[in-house]
Amino acid sequence: MLKKKTIVLGVSGGIAAFKSAALVSKLTQAGANVFVVMTESAQKFVTPLTFQALSRNYVYTDTFEEPDAEKIAHIDIADQADLILIAPASANTIAKLAHGIADNMLTTLTLAAKAPVALAPAMNVNMYDHPAVQNNMNTLRSYGYKLIEPGAGYLACGWIGKGRMAEPEDLLDLIDSLLANPTTLAGKKILVTAGPTREALDPVRYFSNYSSGKMGYAIAKEARKRGAYVTLVSGPTALNAPAGVELVDVQSAEEMYRAVTDRFNDMDVVVKSAAVADYQPEKVLSQKRKKQGNEWSVSLVKTKDTLFEIGKKKDKQILVGFAAESEHLDRYAKDKLERKNLDLIVANNITAKGAGFDVDTNIVSIFTNDNHSIDYPEQSKAETASVILDELEDYMKRRELM
Ligand code: CTP
Repeated sequence: MLKKKTIVLGVSGGIAAFKSAALVSKLTQAGANVFVVMTESAQKFVTPLTFQALSRNYVYTDTFEEPDAEKIAHIDIADQADLILIAPASANTIAKLAHGIADNMLTTLTLAAKAPVALAPAMNVNMYDHPAVQNNMNTLRSYGYKLIEPGAGYLACGWIGKGRMAEPEDLLDLIDSLLANPTTLAGKKILVTAGPTREALDPVRYFSNYSSGKMGYAIAKEARKRGAYVTLVSGPTALNAPAGVELVDVQSAEEMYRAVTDRFNDMDVVVKSAAVADYQPEKVLSQKRKKQGNEWSVSLVKTKDTLFEIGKKKDKQILVGFAAESEHLDRYAKDKLERKNLDLIVANNITAKGAGFDVDTNIVSIFTNDNHSIDYPEQSKAETASVILDELEDYMKRRELM
């Protein structure tokens, strides 16, 4: 897998930097093109010349040093990378990346890259266990970065415990497997809609539905984990937006329509898991309606069908719809797939126990427009999100081959 691949090896400050020299040697022997980027502290442990000799490439240490006047180095190297591995990753570099700080060549380049990022932490056991470091690593995981467990044992500082950087042979295997299974969604822009909509009657009343938003939020979280840039357009829910996801709050079907169509041209994938109202009150009263008479008839008019509209104007975009049905699941779902010009549709029978609105599990069937279909058993919404994105990625790979 490594032949002709461009690996950016970020080296931050730590005694384990010497192990990275062995890794560079293994990578170049395996045919990879390796660019080493060092922080200032890393250079206190190993010199750039060591890495230059092993990689046969210029070693980057300074954002503002531009060896080639035709290019902006940190963007150029970020664009070329098939994978970025930061080894050793110090507590300081982990903290900076978790907070988007770009104050040296390594952090700036990593922020600019769309390639998968892996980090091999190396530090004292007490630093590694510190909640600040653990929280920062969780933030990085939520960005889809891969954190490579350090080994336990005798540490250079004299302590015994967890914090020893993974061995070069293990890192080599890991790079190989990360390159073999790159997620198709990495670097893609994906818009996910979630939750119910509210269709106002007057300032205190609305029509809505039982959607909790759990399915859509789980998809947004999983897509982010797979390295996609995620925009979550959400109706009112009680959920917190997953870390690293851009949240756009909306109320009504009309607002959801605008939020989605405004962003549509820029997207690679749209997943419409929101339970959008099909009808809205014809008139929204500006004052609270007082109690009067025994009956109140409200005239409802159709809302805009966002998915149908974007299905008409899609070009490169991949559209994933949902079909919540109470009968004739396959027939209705396939009809929506075709009618709304979708690539994939996720169908569920909302009357089945363990499926549908406001529960933590789902039972789905997925149909694609190239005639694949698969039924899944009851599973958590997180697992359901994962299989939906697996199917989506398989579909994207098949489409690239077509
Ligand atoms: N949808 C949408 N805008 C609407 C209604 C639905 O974008 N105004 C989307 C939903 O987010 C979902 C898909 O269309 O992904 C199917 O929604 P559903 O309500 O099941 O389909 P409808 O076309 O409304 O058909 P019906 O209500 O007759 O089943």
